[in-house]
Amino acid sequence: MSTDDTESKCGASGSTESETSESKCGATKTEASTESKCGGSSSSSSSESKCGGSSDDEEVGSTVEDFDADPGRLVAVGLGPGEAEGMTSRAKTALADAEHIVGYTTYVDLLPDEITDDAEDIYSTPMCGEVSRTEEAIDRALAGNDVAIIGSGDPNVYALAGLALEILESKGGTASMVDFEVVPGVPAAQSCAARVGAPLVNDTVSISLSDHLTDMPTIESRLHATAKEGFTIAIYNPWSRKRRENFEKCCEILLEHRDEDTPVGIVHAAGREDEEVEIATLGDLPDLGETDLIDMTTTLLVGNEETYVWDDRMVTPRGYETKYDY
Ligand SMILES: C[S@@+](CC[C@H](N)C(=O)[O-])C[C@H]1O[C@@H](n2cnc3c(N)ncnc32)[C@H](O)[C@@H]1O
Repeated sequence: MSTDDTESKCGASGSTESETSESKCGATKTEASTESKCGGSSSSSSSESKCGGSSDDEEVGSTVEDFDADPGRLVAVGLGPGEAEGMTSRAKTALADAEHIVGYTTYVDLLPDEITDDAEDIYSTPMCGEVSRTEEAIDRALAGNDVAIIGSGDPNVYALAGLALEILESKGGTASMVDFEVVPGVPAAQSCAARVGAPLVNDTVSISLSDHLTDMPTIESRLHATAKEGFTIAIYNPWSRKRRENFEKCCEILLEHRDEDTPVGIVHAAGREDEEVEIATLGDLPDLGETDLIDMTTTLLVGNEETYVWDDRMVTPRGYETKYDY
């Protein structure tokens, strides 16, 4: 099934390519206002958003009481980095079993044709509709459909698995009611680490520079603590035009605690057509913020004090060298 023209079980047809899309449950849906024939409605009030649009301050509308059907299933599926080969077979099976697939447009576009062709309906919205998109997936499941909500990497890493459970709870539902399941995927930190050798072999902390949901002072204090304690660090959401200053602040904090020769693996779009990989140093990092290498699809892997580069690979010793001779 194509993602731009979908025939709905409920009788609706849907465009999934633009800001305005047709809900599987029947009604026309926009980022600003959604109406669902699945039984409930949700709306988003207009507010300033760092996410780039006018609004992502969304409210959950319907409750489980609004649905008469026996619920279907809801599965949160992690796609891994992007390429079909990077998906687990469990993820492929979960998507093949799902009647409806719901996700951010970019992730839907990453799905192999055999999955999109076989799906009964695909519902995608652009970035920043996380709450309404997740609610749409839940409403479809409550209306009796087997639904997969998809995301890159793993559903437990800066993703929607938690939000799905929170919304289900706020609707008066339960996880068991929709047989909620998480199907793990390879997180970006791990798929990116694989591109540059073995940078994350010891204790690692992930930090997102997105201040959309966590404020910048908190992010800064986490960066200080992590850099000071010597963890290797996986940095998600490192740069966007609106997040320029966060990236600059991050570089400043890292350089406060770590030597400028510290290796940094930079992986842009792992597993996708525009993949780019570079091993740089912390000292080089600030200047790379304005290049195409670092954007919203890049993950940075910052070495610890022991990380070194050997034969174009980052190596973070696990500590065997302290116990064994080799
Ligand atoms: C909202 S988070 C989602 C993370 C995802 N759930 C995971 O497990 O990787 C988005 C961030 O993940 C990272 N990311 C996702 N896919 C990536 C890829 N293919 N290559 C490099 N980084 C990626 C980027 O840092 C991006 O800003």
